[in-house]
Amino acid sequence: MAIGYLNGQVINSDDPVLPIDERGHQFGDGVYEYIRVYGGRPFMMKEHLDRFFRSAEAIKLNLDQSREDIEAITKDLIERSGLADCDIYMQATRGIAPRNHLFPNVPASISMTVKPFRMMDETLREEGAGIKLMPDERWQNCWIKTLNLLPNLLAKQEAFEAGAFEAVLVRDNVVTEGSSSNLFLVKDGKLITPPATKHILHGITRMAVIDIAAELDIPVEEKAFSPDAVFEADEVFLTSTGIEIVPVTSVDRQTISDGKPGEITKKIYEAFMKRV
Ligand code: PDD
Repeated sequence: MAIGYLNGQVINSDDPVLPIDERGHQFGDGVYEYIRVYGGRPFMMKEHLDRFFRSAEAIKLNLDQSREDIEAITKDLIERSGLADCDIYMQATRGIAPRNHLFPNVPASISMTVKPFRMMDETLREEGAGIKLMPDERWQNCWIKTLNLLPNLLAKQEAFEAGAFEAVLVRDNVVTEGSSSNLFLVKDGKLITPPATKHILHGITRMAVIDIAAELDIPVEEKAFSPDAVFEADEVFLTSTGIEIVPVTSVDRQTISDGKPGEITKKIYEAFMKRV
């Protein structure tokens, strides 16, 4: 059985358990986290929970559970699953109530799944991925990890159909992030990544990479840049919980540098794998 959790009960996540009037389902009225478990241990759990509670607060969602409660639930679910390498998806919504745009006076819902980790196609890591630049059509508060991902999905699908691995979004001629990842450039031995403004998700993997760079004495600049900088970069890579670190070797079908994954990207990936 696929292990899941809903409002106090361990469930089979393949079972149809959500009522139609669940606000996550009807409005996308909630927030989520996606966490990797390596060798039975959730990676950077504290940071993920910080962001989960920050996102909930930002949408005025009050959770009944404390951080400790959530940690205890995840620990129990991981143990029950018997999986060492897996991922946790958790979401909180404004609960179950007849459909109405106003907030209902009901407890928030919390649900989770623990699933075997979906391995990425490793040839991407060896050969590099292509990205497609696309307009960032999302709202202003992309730092909140909400369930409302339609613009992200539309961009990702369009990029995929154009043969690219990821859509990289551009707002007012400034590169923000991928549809489900953060972006780094390497230029003259330095890492450059968009600053953690409200227009990007403050990625946990991004945070780990910045920390690793400091350890490796690689300077990091958090600054805004235009699409031109991507074409002119020495190296480019994407980061997220699901893909970890993936080198990018082409943008809009144009080769970046020599078209091979870069040395600094590899170094950072190796250091990241040591950490996890
Ligand atoms: N997405 N930017 C966006 C828009 C994202 O959706 C994600 C992650 C990231 C990277 O964040 P992190 O390093 O904390 O995973 C950046 C997750 C994986 C998802 O939606 O499933």
